[in-house]
Amino acid sequence: MSRALVTGANKGIGLGLCHELAAGGWDVIATCRQSSQELDALGVQALDGLDVTVASSVSAIRDAIGGEPLDLVVANAGVNLSFDVDRIDDLDLVLVEEELRVNTVGAARTVLAALPSLGRGAKVLLVSSGVVGPGRQNAGNVGYTMSKSALNSFGRSLADQVRERGIVVVIASPGNTETDITRRVQAAGRSPLPPGTKSRDPFDSARNVLGIVERATLEDSGAFWGPDGAVLLTVDGVPGSARQ
Ligand SMILES: NC(=O)c1ccc[n+]([C@@H]2O[C@H](COP(=O)([O-])OP(=O)(O)OC[C@H]3O[C@@H](n4cnc5c(N)ncnc54)[C@H](OP(=O)(O)O)[C@@H]3O)[C@@H](O)[C@H]2O)c1
Repeated sequence: MSRALVTGANKGIGLGLCHELAAGGWDVIATCRQSSQELDALGVQALDGLDVTVASSVSAIRDAIGGEPLDLVVANAGVNLSFDVDRIDDLDLVLVEEELRVNTVGAARTVLAALPSLGRGAKVLLVSSGVVGPGRQNAGNVGYTMSKSALNSFGRSLADQVRERGIVVVIASPGNTETDITRRVQAAGRSPLPPGTKSRDPFDSARNVLGIVERATLEDSGAFWGPDGAVLLTVDGVPGSARQ
């Protein structure tokens, strides 16, 4: 049986990923700060009290993985906190720092904790965002954009470093999905999308992203994928097109 570890698993896309993996017969370690009824109902191995900004989460992740190999680690936990700002002069750097701590350093921490358990053929999924796709610079999402840009940069370096070990790194945007992150932005009237745009269901987004993970090969490792399987940025960081 294949084994996966997913962060931010109590709701949203993380919950969807755990659901889809469990339904596909995977053995799932679902980590979160606090579990939810929906996660408990999945019957997967839940690891709660896991805050990715805390250094000790590394040993908690290592203990949960134990001695068996891991086939997939998903750095999904994320926040978008500094969207409610019009002028860069008003940027709240405390919020930006938290975005970097969760979305970038927290994701890197998760991956580094799992890395010793990843062997040839294993995969890393970094849940990024289309806000850092080619041609997208969203004023009002400065901290979030900074954190996801840095995440993508980490992903490309990681891909280079672990290619020889046969580990595939997938950086993927799930696309606009109806979760607490988007609900908060919409409630503040800050959605960059045209009014009436329909958000994806988190379980559909999870399914799409896992399809990309399944298809990705070492040749693609480090590429940045859009929600529908198009390559947004190639392994070399240039705007790409779909790999058929
Ligand atoms: N929704 C979209 O349209 C969209 C688009 C592009 C990318 N994404 C990305 O998708 C990922 C999942 O977000 P979502 O849309 O599913 O939003 P969500 O429903 O708000 O889920 C975010 C998850 O991250 C967890 N989290 C936040 N801070 C954490 C921390 N310090 N330690 C551990 N877990 C933490 C949350 O846990 P708590 O419940 O404890 O807060 C929650 O489980 C994020 O990386 C986000 O940037 C989402």
